[in-house]
Amino acid sequence: MGSTDTRPKRLVVLVSGTGSNLQAILDACADTSLHAEVVAVVSNRADVFALQRADAAGVPAVHIGVHPDEERSDYDARLADVVAGFDPDLVVLAGWMRILTMSFLGWFPDRVVNLHPALPGELPGTGAIEQAWDEAVTGRRTTTGVMVHLVPDERVDGGPVLGTATVDIDVEAGFEQFVTLVHATEHRLLVDTLATLCSTDPTRNDRTEVSA
Ligand code: GRF
Repeated sequence: MGSTDTRPKRLVVLVSGTGSNLQAILDACADTSLHAEVVAVVSNRADVFALQRADAAGVPAVHIGVHPDEERSDYDARLADVVAGFDPDLVVLAGWMRILTMSFLGWFPDRVVNLHPALPGELPGTGAIEQAWDEAVTGRRTTTGVMVHLVPDERVDGGPVLGTATVDIDVEAGFEQFVTLVHATEHRLLVDTLATLCSTDPTRNDRTEVSA
């Protein structure tokens, strides 16, 4: 991205839970380290803390629940309609826990960005943090990581990589400390990667690497 268009980029953030990554984005927009504004937060689940974070930041908080027996593509078409209404430059999947079909992705080519707590090609899907830990405890790995990537199609946690960060696993320090380190690394990588994508500085390159 990077362009002569100097207005702050419009972000619609899709969430399904606590929203700590959403909060990192909101804080970075507020302190202007991220040249963007969150114009809406959309959740497939009601009553999640992420929607309260949006409310507290004065950002429209939208719940779009799945109707009983609704086809995934029909839900995604409804979702795309609402998201398009906010005219986003980027759609950020920050803890969004549903696979999106082309009924959604087709509306936002090269504009959907996902965060995943594993390195490219590793531990796709849910439970990646727990799996990495279990493998470390049994001596099968010593590091893991996090990544930010584009979502061009229906692959799970796959697509052109925009940023990565490696996280060392210290089994002695315990699981809670490991989870805290992974989330802190996610917050930093997501904001840094978005800052590059939203930057008006053409010299800023497109691939972000941060260390844990
Ligand atoms: C993050 O670890 C994200 O990578 C994963 O779900 C978690 C969401 O955390 N997909 P939060 O809701 O942003 O705190």
